[in-house]
Amino acid sequence: MDLIIVGAGGHGRVAAAIAARMPGVKLAGVLDDRFTHMKITDGRMYAPVSYAEALHQGFPDVKWFIGIGNNRVRQQLAARLDFPETAYASLVHPSAQINGDSRIGAGTLLGPQAVVNSDAEVGRHVIVNTGAVVEHDNTIGDYVHLSPNVTLTGSVTVHEGGHLGAGSCVIPGKNVGAWAVTGAGSTVIDDLPAGVTAVGTPAKIIKREGAVFVQHQQS
Ligand SMILES: CC(C)(COP(=O)(O)OP(=O)(O)OC[C@H]1O[C@@H](n2cnc3c(N)ncnc32)[C@H](O)[C@@H]1OP(=O)(O)O)[C@@H](O)C(=O)NCCC(=O)NCCS
Repeated sequence: MDLIIVGAGGHGRVAAAIAARMPGVKLAGVLDDRFTHMKITDGRMYAPVSYAEALHQGFPDVKWFIGIGNNRVRQQLAARLDFPETAYASLVHPSAQINGDSRIGAGTLLGPQAVVNSDAEVGRHVIVNTGAVVEHDNTIGDYVHLSPNVTLTGSVTVHEGGHLGAGSCVIPGKNVGAWAVTGAGSTVIDDLPAGVTAVGTPAKIIKREGAVFVQHQQS
């Protein structure tokens, strides 16, 4: 399978490294607006993102991956490209596990030692980063990022665009709202509404849609 990764930053390079470990996957190109013009180096193409549509039309068998760590930007880029789901590859590190009847969506990445356990459903363009654990019966929306060593226990739901910081833990059956953020090392023991930022153990909300919560500063 020939692969083009969109994004040459940190997450794009992580994606390229994982692709290099996957049997049968060949990185054919990288698109990023940091490249001002198309060039070919060592048989690999580097070009601005504006080349994507023509490449998709000209090489319909090539698979794509959006290697952007920021959830909003990743979503915006998917909307801009507007490729069918079948155009996207999922990248799964050889040491990651997808167990039982769980499913992962197109364009999703599982890093080294990531685990998705039985009957979990992981959406499209999700990042299950290094060592993150998605336990049984989880539902993970599109454009979520589970940072390294996140632990989602059983029957957790993370809605679209949620970003769980490194080492966060969510206890069983709790919901993380759309585009909510948890700080590194947080423990979520209550449902989190959409758009909030929560930190600490137990996780307390410090921001709602950008506004700082005075309560946190007093506690
Ligand atoms: C939660 C987070 C997103 C907040 O960032 P921010 O909006 O810039 O917030 P600030 O740094 O202004 O911090 C706001 C308050 O929360 C506290 N805080 C921030 N992160 C915290 C954390 N992880 N745990 C506990 N408290 C935290 C700060 O001390 C500060 O407290 P104060 O108001 O009493 O001074 C960020 O601190 C964080 O933890 N990011 C994790 C990112 C990550 O894991 N990325 C992995 C990518 S692979």
